[in-house]
Amino acid sequence: MREASTQVQADLDRLIPLLDTVLTTPFRQGEAQRLGEAMRYSLEAGGKRVRPVLCILACEAVGGTSAQALPGALALEYVHTYSLIHDDLPAMDDDDLRRGRPTNHKVFGEGHAILAGDALLTEAFGVLAAAALDPGRRAEALVLLAEGAGWRGMAGGQALDLEGETLHSYDLDHLRLIHRLKTGALLRTSVEIGAVLGGAAPVERSALRAYGEAIGLAFQIQDDILDATATEADLGKRAGKDAGRGKITYPSLLGLDGARKALEEATETALCHLASLPNQNSLAAWAQYLALRGK
Ligand code: IPE
Ligand code: IPE
Ligand code: MG
Ligand code: MG
Ligand code: MG
Repeated sequence: MREASTQVQADLDRLIPLLDTVLTTPFRQGEAQRLGEAMRYSLEAGGKRVRPVLCILACEAVGGTSAQALPGALALEYVHTYSLIHDDLPAMDDDDLRRGRPTNHKVFGEGHAILAGDALLTEAFGVLAAAALDPGRRAEALVLLAEGAGWRGMAGGQALDLEGETLHSYDLDHLRLIHRLKTGALLRTSVEIGAVLGGAAPVERSALRAYGEAIGLAFQIQDDILDATATEADLGKRAGKDAGRGKITYPSLLGLDGARKALEEATETALCHLASLPNQNSLAAWAQYLALRGK
């Protein structure tokens, strides 16, 4: 296998242009100009594009093409960007910096930020539903997106995260549940949608789902570690905010060393689930890269 970072860079060089040329196209022309501007503002601020890239790589890992995965990839980045806009609202984490820019509500106001999130979530389902894909695969991908984004996934996890701010006692199982839902669900869904759109065999699909579940947990553990250790300049968002808001995190519960160990374990689990796939190099490299990332 190529060095993980070389592989990841090659994937980014190939896939980011593919995504970025079409990501904001649907929101350039329309009557609600200011809302379109708010949607484009957060999409164009950058971001690592982890979910759409994983969706495409999972599709390719089972023999599909990037074109087959692209509508799913766009939908995932729309849902993710909506989740960040809402996560930053005063009623949630009350943050003022995101992707290196003032947060959406700071620029466009709370009303427009809420609506930009609503519209991105809705457009996500629209872009996938309208795509010229195999109808059975498309329907399955839509169901997965609903599960990953909704009550059983990201939105449910965000609710538990908020409730956690005022909990007096909690344990690792509860924290794992929050992370699995608020962040893990959409990452797992990204990989699984890619698998479905690429026509994965049932055994490949379940291996990829398990891989996605494990990197999803690892991803939020590293996000917690970075919040406690990195700088605002590194992250493009405020650092040290979890402790300030009384969030339940891996470092707050297990200490930094314990959090790093849990991150390593989740990454190892992810790599184990790839073992049975013929075409696993990129996904393995991404699991390693995501655990070591500095932002
Ligand atoms: C941040 O996600 C929020 C979490 C789910 C931890 P990312 O770290 O993927 O954010 P961007 O897309 O790169 O801005
Ligand atoms: C957010 O988790 C998860 C989402 C669903 C957006 P965080 O609140 O830790 O994400 P950041 O640190 O603000 O990016
Ligand atoms: Mg949050
Ligand atoms: Mg937050
Ligand atoms: Mg965080």
